[in-house]
Amino acid sequence: MKCKSNLFLAFLFLNLMTFAQKTTIIELKSGWKFAKGQNEKAFENSFNDSKWQSVTVPHDWAIYGPFDKEVDKQVTAIVQNGEKVATEKTGRTGALPYIGEAWYRNQFSVPDLNKDKKVLLLFEGAMSEPKVFVNGKKVGEWNYGYNYFYFDITDFVSANAKNNLAVHLSNKGESSRWYPGAGLYRKVKLIVKNKESIDQWGTFITTPVVSDDLAKVNVKTKISGENLRIITKIKDANGNEVATNESNALFGNEFEQNIAVKNPHLWSPETPYLYTAISQLYDGDVLKDETSTRFGIRTIKFEPNKGFSLNGQIRKFKGVCLHHDLGPIGTAINKAALRRQLTILKDLGCNAIRSSHNMPSLEQLELCDEMGFMFLAESFDEWAKPKVKNGYNRFFEKDAEKDIVNLVHATRNHPSIVMWSSGNEVPDQWGAEGVKRAKWLQEIFHREDPTRPVTVGMDQVKATMESGFGALMDIPGLNYRVHLYDEAFKKFPQGFILGSETASTVSSRGIYKFPVEKAVSKQYDDYQCSSYDLEYCSWSNLPEDDFILQDDKPWVIGEFVWTGFDYLGEPTPYDEKWPSRSSYFGLSDLAGLPKDRFYLYRSRWNTNEKTLHILPHWNWKGREGQTTPVFVYTSYDSAELFVNGKSMGIQKKNNTSPQKRYRLMWMDIKYEPGTLKVVALDKDGKAVAEEEIHTAENPYQIKLEADRTTLEANGEDLSFVTVSVVDKNGNLCPTATQQLNFSVNGKGIYRAACNGDATSLEQFHLPTMKLFSGKLVVLVQSTTEAGAIELSVTGKGLKSAKIALQSK
Ligand code: GAL
Repeated sequence: MKCKSNLFLAFLFLNLMTFAQKTTIIELKSGWKFAKGQNEKAFENSFNDSKWQSVTVPHDWAIYGPFDKEVDKQVTAIVQNGEKVATEKTGRTGALPYIGEAWYRNQFSVPDLNKDKKVLLLFEGAMSEPKVFVNGKKVGEWNYGYNYFYFDITDFVSANAKNNLAVHLSNKGESSRWYPGAGLYRKVKLIVKNKESIDQWGTFITTPVVSDDLAKVNVKTKISGENLRIITKIKDANGNEVATNESNALFGNEFEQNIAVKNPHLWSPETPYLYTAISQLYDGDVLKDETSTRFGIRTIKFEPNKGFSLNGQIRKFKGVCLHHDLGPIGTAINKAALRRQLTILKDLGCNAIRSSHNMPSLEQLELCDEMGFMFLAESFDEWAKPKVKNGYNRFFEKDAEKDIVNLVHATRNHPSIVMWSSGNEVPDQWGAEGVKRAKWLQEIFHREDPTRPVTVGMDQVKATMESGFGALMDIPGLNYRVHLYDEAFKKFPQGFILGSETASTVSSRGIYKFPVEKAVSKQYDDYQCSSYDLEYCSWSNLPEDDFILQDDKPWVIGEFVWTGFDYLGEPTPYDEKWPSRSSYFGLSDLAGLPKDRFYLYRSRWNTNEKTLHILPHWNWKGREGQTTPVFVYTSYDSAELFVNGKSMGIQKKNNTSPQKRYRLMWMDIKYEPGTLKVVALDKDGKAVAEEEIHTAENPYQIKLEADRTTLEANGEDLSFVTVSVVDKNGNLCPTATQQLNFSVNGKGIYRAACNGDATSLEQFHLPTMKLFSGKLVVLVQSTTEAGAIELSVTGKGLKSAKIALQSK
């Protein structure tokens, strides 16, 4: 290990020598030591960390559990949910041990450090309240755990020596409404530059003029130094240079270049075309710095009565809200996990993401640029007035401006970002102070980025109508409150409304409850919610209430469904029930497995592929002869249902109820085991597609399906293997709950498993878990060595299974 890290340093040294004139970025990934429970005073430069745990960063110290009812038990009334009386909320933040203090330590060297260099230390997020020390001296602190920040540590580092880096983190209880994660959960980077160089986040690229044959690319570059010149080259997606521009006209500390790109390829969700701007900074003929910035050419407009258009085409946001945790691996950022989420969302037909309720990871933005998702980048869940005692309210007055500045500077070149959000359901919606704050924040966004509008997710719509809060926003965003859309449209001057947060319908994958009926905040003894998708919260609504607004009101510019995936914490409607510890809102569960509701949205959103999905499952031993409604979520207009070959009649979508407009429902089906078949019909009644499900016999064997079988041998790539149990004929056993065991051989490791059961207290990183509704997902991680990997899954009484993966 030692020898490996020496080799690594030698490699770095060589790299630094070769490119000494340019900026060098070193990710501090390995070599970290971690200890929890140390208070800040325990720090000394000579602190003995030999007994500390060795970890790699990104790291989430709390995800390993165990789940514990007592962790962050909040006795509170959740005001925004309409509660008046305080009750005990367990699992609100996931019941995982995120609270407390901890230290991370590492060492680094800066081999060619000299008086012409500067050294920055960049954190892409640290949960939370990081205090950073280099060689025993404090270099700075940053309160907000979700933001990107950096410090200039030039005066703290020494050349050709090991520099000690220590980061102290502290998470208070009652500081969050969901699982915030804990630790250095995003990347840490050391950046070595010339003093004369392009500033960190100093490049700002916009495309103010775009037509079919020409785009004006405006590149502003902030630099440090004098008498320098800049050359910016624009390369297309194949790396061919398409334009270049040189300038020596420095205004203040900024170059501004306008570069013409002929016949531009426009960025859109369907054509996520990316250009790269390479900017080189010269002093005479000496190259002082070079940066590479990816960007897209596109236009956005929000216009009264017309709505939102991208590249001149009106379109609606078919969006989902996402919290930042990645289920079983917690908040530690992982590109493979993010890519899988987005792949699932592409299949859904989703075109937009809202990073609720904080700054997104840079990796997520990179993937949205590449894969084609529009982005609503949010900043805060609280302003000055608290939702939770120890939330951002403690820092708002002092930090809000610098937090927004960093959000904008670090992310503004991502073409995916089409709007900013300065807040979500902030209690400051009430009162004159809140109006001032809304204006202040919006103006900071405008000052830092004049190209994108700003929204706030508003739930106190009446209050914001009266106070002027809603009228001043660039984009009035309504969270729920479907009954107020019309009024808000009339009262607000903008001429359009965004469904910034919608639905909050709840369900558990593969669980169905009888009788089938609409219900508000319904609870059951097993702490699950029905996948007939008729249960919602007192403040929210069913999907169709939003669909109707989206379809019938041209001035509604889209929606962001709460949520794309289940997340850790906020186990509504079981906030007070243990052991519920994760949400029920997702279209997919915590393991990323689609629930039925996924297909309801897919049937509207995915316009490239048809949807024909039947629910419930058909294994109802004991319900023989009892009414067991069958729903079909489909992009077809009508269909005929057959139970064991007998027609149950044709259903056609119609306007007699919101549900009947979007779902096909056979409410009176009497259960009998066998085959349930649906045949979709075209306008002339001709059969055009069919689907069937079967009553499964006893669980017989394990089945494995990997999302990817070839991984990158980089020690962080992941294959998500869906594990299901099937009968002798290959039918999914939808009620199977067997305990399974996992082992990984070869050049991979077992990383985690998740079954999507919001009440499961099994720890994700242990190689055993029970199935939930016949399925779970195992995450296999590559090592840094290439080669064959094999995952084996066994379970008592079941034929086991193996799957071969490989890493390259
Ligand atoms: C909203 C809130 C979200 C989440 C959701 C649950 O009011 O913005 O963060 O709490 O309710 O329905």
